[in-house]
Amino acid sequence: MSEPAYPRVATLKTAAAFRGHLERSGIPLEFDDQLTPPDRSPLARSIAVNGVTVGNRFCILPMEGWDGTPGGEPSELTRRRWRHFGRSGAKLIWGGEAVAVRHDGRANPNQLLITNATLPALAALRDDLIAAHRERFGAQADRDLYVGLQLTHSGRYARPNEYDRPEPRPGAPNPLLDRRFPRGVRVIDDEELDRLVEDFVTAARLARDAGFAFVDVKACHGYLGHELLGARTRTGRYGGTLENRTRFLRDTIQAIRAGVHGLEIVVRLSAFDTTPFRKSEQGTGAREADADDPSTRPGFCVVDDDRDLDAALDESRAVVAMLQRLGVGAICVTCGSPYYNPHVQPPAMIPPLDGSEPPEDSLCGLTR
Ligand SMILES: Cc1cc2nc3c(=O)[nH]c(=O)nc-3n(C[C@H](O)[C@H](O)[C@H](O)COP(=O)(O)O)c2cc1C
Repeated sequence: MSEPAYPRVATLKTAAAFRGHLERSGIPLEFDDQLTPPDRSPLARSIAVNGVTVGNRFCILPMEGWDGTPGGEPSELTRRRWRHFGRSGAKLIWGGEAVAVRHDGRANPNQLLITNATLPALAALRDDLIAAHRERFGAQADRDLYVGLQLTHSGRYARPNEYDRPEPRPGAPNPLLDRRFPRGVRVIDDEELDRLVEDFVTAARLARDAGFAFVDVKACHGYLGHELLGARTRTGRYGGTLENRTRFLRDTIQAIRAGVHGLEIVVRLSAFDTTPFRKSEQGTGAREADADDPSTRPGFCVVDDDRDLDAALDESRAVVAMLQRLGVGAICVTCGSPYYNPHVQPPAMIPPLDGSEPPEDSLCGLTR
């Protein structure tokens, strides 16, 4: 294997080594040389989320392991992961992992699915997490533990039946991304979206019945909720203007609010995006050559030059303001999509889907 072009952060063993690397690379990232002791750490302080006191500020982001059963129930591996979430000590469990509201919206044949049939197993998953938390931190420790479930439809990245058979239902046409699906794509139509709002409500009700305190209506990472926000090339009620592009998210939140009591709603949002990357001949991720043509740039808050980032965030700010008006008590900000600009996010332990090397030091992305 070739040497990575950028040092892994874990190899920078001291604050001085880390600072030296940042300075040499011209990366304007601030950090504290000394960690505040645990008893005085800001991360140890409680925080109010949706009016609930959450015991500290450590949050487990949703992370799936593609290890549910074909029927959409957790496997032993899933249960072990959730027990680890509980044992971690983090008090905010932001959704656990993506759970599909409908079979055709699963990102892979092993993604969890929420239905009447899977409800007992999903309730047990939450119970196990709480039991693991209590076992480690005491019988009362779950009083300030806040556990929700992330609800999703994978849209363009649906692959519900076979790992090697994409069954994309994108929210909008996108010339650059559509050609990555040689068998073609079928944009999800307005009537299907109307019905999908109801499917989210049903799923939210089941999540409440399983004991979850909130649901995350997922709007990130290139999946349907996110792609619709950028659906400028879509016609009809769900495309074109920002008002139309936010309709699905807005209607879903309002319908859950009206139809499911005793459940809070949060949103995970990809706040900005870039034009798609693909692996170049040199092996690094590179922006698609024809991406400068504005007609091939559908997407939500697409920015390819950091100098434009602030202006590109205008629509994100508008969406955040809308979510505030809708009473959404917390927003988890993320960016991009692991499918077409994998290096925009902090790197995972596993290589990105396209196998490309990062085009920049990941600390640049972190700073961004
Ligand atoms: C194996 C793996 C599974 C993930 N599963 C989910 C998921 O189910 N839902 C989700 O919103 N994000 C998921 N993510 C994304 C992470 O939560 C996180 O957003 C990502 O690692 C980048 O961090 P950032 O959002 O701070 O940029 C997953 C990431 C990895 C590496």
